[in-house]
Amino acid sequence: MKIAIVTGGSNGIGKATALGLGKLGISVILTYNSYKDRAEAVVKEIEKNSGVRALALKLDLTQLSSFEGFVLEVKKNLKEVWNRTTFDYLVNNGGIGGPMMFSEMSEEYFDKILNTNYKGPIFLTQQLVGFMEDAGAIVNTTSSSKNQSFPGYSVYGSLKAAFSTWTRYIAKELAPRQIRVNAVSPGPTHSNFGDGVFDKHPEFIKPLAEQSVFGRIGQPEDIAKVIVNLLSDDFSWVTAQDIEVSGGHLL
Ligand SMILES: NC(=O)c1ccc[n+]([C@@H]2O[C@H](COP(=O)([O-])OP(=O)(O)OC[C@H]3O[C@@H](n4cnc5c(N)ncnc54)[C@H](OP(=O)(O)O)[C@@H]3O)[C@@H](O)[C@H]2O)c1
Repeated sequence: MKIAIVTGGSNGIGKATALGLGKLGISVILTYNSYKDRAEAVVKEIEKNSGVRALALKLDLTQLSSFEGFVLEVKKNLKEVWNRTTFDYLVNNGGIGGPMMFSEMSEEYFDKILNTNYKGPIFLTQQLVGFMEDAGAIVNTTSSSKNQSFPGYSVYGSLKAAFSTWTRYIAKELAPRQIRVNAVSPGPTHSNFGDGVFDKHPEFIKPLAEQSVFGRIGQPEDIAKVIVNLLSDDFSWVTAQDIEVSGGHLL
């Protein structure tokens, strides 16, 4: 029985990933930040449809001082629920976006994007990898914006580029343990991103859809399928890669 930890599993891509892993009989510890109710609903759906155990834990990636307590919770649950001291897969998916023009940028905005999308996942991985099984796998969620230049996304895009580069470095450092580390770069995806920006402003979808060669934006399941496959043994000879999953956005 494999066990995966998926950060940001209460919504969007993380939710679809948790459900996809459950379908394969993989148990999931998913995390939420604001939406405990949604995370609990994902747990229920996994357990009902897949017959594997799942659980939801609170994690705020900006609060590095809380990681020690989170890790203790994970270890306690691994023991009590699965009688394990280790887990197998980590999906560093939790993140936030939202544009801010360089001319107006505040330090508060910069730090929030930095801590949630880059610093938090790095130090969380450092704490978790110590009790990850050898030959496990990690997938990081970066973004196609790392190769683009849409106004307002300079910090988000450049930190996703940094996260992508970090993926390569850490893939090398963890290779002696046969742990694979890869990334996916989603293009525009209809999740709850930007506090539900695509639901609040459906008019934003069409212009982005027109930038894709397939004429639509992504759904969370489009990205989750790739994450789930990258974790699997079918990709055992693949590490240090960042695969764009965007339906040919801006091709
Ligand atoms: N959607 C896109 O167009 C797109 C494109 C490229 C890359 N991405 C990346 O894909 C990943 C998933 O985003 P999504 O599109 O699925 O967005 P989403 O639907 O908003 O989901 C984001 C997840 O991250 C969690 N999260 C937010 N702030 C957090 C924090 N401080 N600490 C821990 N977890 C936190 C959220 O938890 P709560 O909901 O419980 O607060 C939620 O589960 C992100 O890394 C994002 O940068 C998205």
